[in-house]
Amino acid sequence: IVRFFLPQDLKGLNFLVTAGPTWEPWDEVRVLTSRSSGKMGYAVARAARDRGARVTLISGPTGLLPPPGVEFVRVTTALEMKEAVEQHFEQADVLVMAAAVSDYRPRERVAGKIKKGPERLTLELERNPDILEELGKKKGKRLLVGFAAEAGDVVDKARAKLEAKNLDLVVANDITQEGAGFGSDTNIVTVLFADGRQVQLPRLDKLTCAHRLIDLVAKMVRKDD
Ligand code: CTP
Ligand code: CA
Repeated sequence: IVRFFLPQDLKGLNFLVTAGPTWEPWDEVRVLTSRSSGKMGYAVARAARDRGARVTLISGPTGLLPPPGVEFVRVTTALEMKEAVEQHFEQADVLVMAAAVSDYRPRERVAGKIKKGPERLTLELERNPDILEELGKKKGKRLLVGFAAEAGDVVDKARAKLEAKNLDLVVANDITQEGAGFGSDTNIVTVLFADGRQVQLPRLDKLTCAHRLIDLVAKMVRKDD
């Protein structure tokens, strides 16, 4: 996609995008995390920027460079991500939660480095808050977009999340499908809307996929201006 020819259809809008995994430390060396490259969220941030939005990208640890022209906030844990998202939520018109937030964190964080010892070790975990679900309760006029990476009954599970979290749109993908898995440069997504509509996109590179998602978002966000 050549930037020069892109419509500036997001001018005047504030996009808040999260990406990447979170790291939940259990000592100063080890973390609990999930497999997310951050590529999809970064692609959404770039695509929104290139179409004229003001973009804040809140990112967990990834190997990706911060996209130029985007306000970039680096976080590590789910609790840090929650705080950063809440700080920017007020000004946001659209929240896109592409981050793979850890559902649990180790109950204790040990100072220093745990030495190996027993043959079995039990790590006690505690639930992290659900950032999106909490913001769904006070979303006002904002548009909320969630992601759902599922394996089996993808659409049903994604629709349940859309309803539980009061989302406008959920982007579902089947992680068992070739070309939609972790770290892949492509994605195959089904977009579900709160009104029951459903749009299947073909296998696309992630930046193109991001633009197609934004096409759908742009139509909704401009509706009652
Ligand atoms: N999410 C979030 N905060 C969490 C967990 C998830 O904001 N603590 C967001 C994700 O960024 C994503 C959406 O909620 O946009 C769905 O995340 P997902 O992990 O698929 O769903 P969960 O509700 O965590 O359910 P489960 O992992 O049990 O399938
Ligand atoms: Ca989860």
